[in-house]
Amino acid sequence: MDKKEFRNCMGRFATGVTVVTTETEGVTHGFTVNSFTSVSLDPPIVLVSVDKNAKALQAMKHNNFIANVLNENQRDTAMHFAGKPKEQLPFEWEETGLGARIKGSLAHIECVPWAEYDGGDHVLFLGEVKAFEYHPGQPLAFYCGQFSNVSPLVQS
Ligand SMILES: Cc1cc2nc3c(=O)[nH]c(=O)nc-3n(C[C@H](O)[C@H](O)[C@H](O)COP(=O)(O)O)c2cc1C
Repeated sequence: MDKKEFRNCMGRFATGVTVVTTETEGVTHGFTVNSFTSVSLDPPIVLVSVDKNAKALQAMKHNNFIANVLNENQRDTAMHFAGKPKEQLPFEWEETGLGARIKGSLAHIECVPWAEYDGGDHVLFLGEVKAFEYHPGQPLAFYCGQFSNVSPLVQS
C-alpha cells in the first residue's frame, strides 16, 4: 500500500486539534495531536494515539494527561507543540490538580490513565476523564494536511 496515498486519504477525515499536556517530575511536556477521540460515556474515556518515535511516548506512559482543545486563534500554539517551538511562548500556562494546561483553550479534558494498547507504529493511550471544562468559540480544525476552520452549514 502507498503510505503517502493512505495518509492523503485519511486527511479527508477532518478533525479538531488538541495539545496534550502531561507532567513528569515537575516538567510539563506538550505535543500537538489530532488523533484525539471520545471512546466511552460511562465511564467517560477518551483516546490519544502517540507516535512511537515521539518524546511524548515516555511522558504519557502510566501518566495523567490533559487534552487542550484549541480554538482557531491558537494555530501558533499548535505549531509550537509540533516541533516548531517559538522563543516567545504564544500561550500562558494554567495549573490544575492534574498538571499544567493551556489557558484560553476551547476545552480542557483532564484524564487519569485507563489503558494502553499497541497500535502499530503508534501507542493508543486511553484516559478516564476526571474533569472537563468548555467555552464558546470557534475550533481550530485540520483537514487535508492544513489548518482550517469550521463554519456551520446554513439550512437551505
Ligand atoms: C495538526 C497536527 C496533528 C498531529 N497529531 C499527532 C498525533 O495524533 N499523534 C502524534 O503522535 N503526533 C501528532 N503530531 C505530530 C507531533 O505533534 C510532533 O511530532 C511533535 O513534535 C511531537 O513532539 P515530541 O516528540 O516532543 O513529543 C501532529 C502534528 C500536527 C501539526
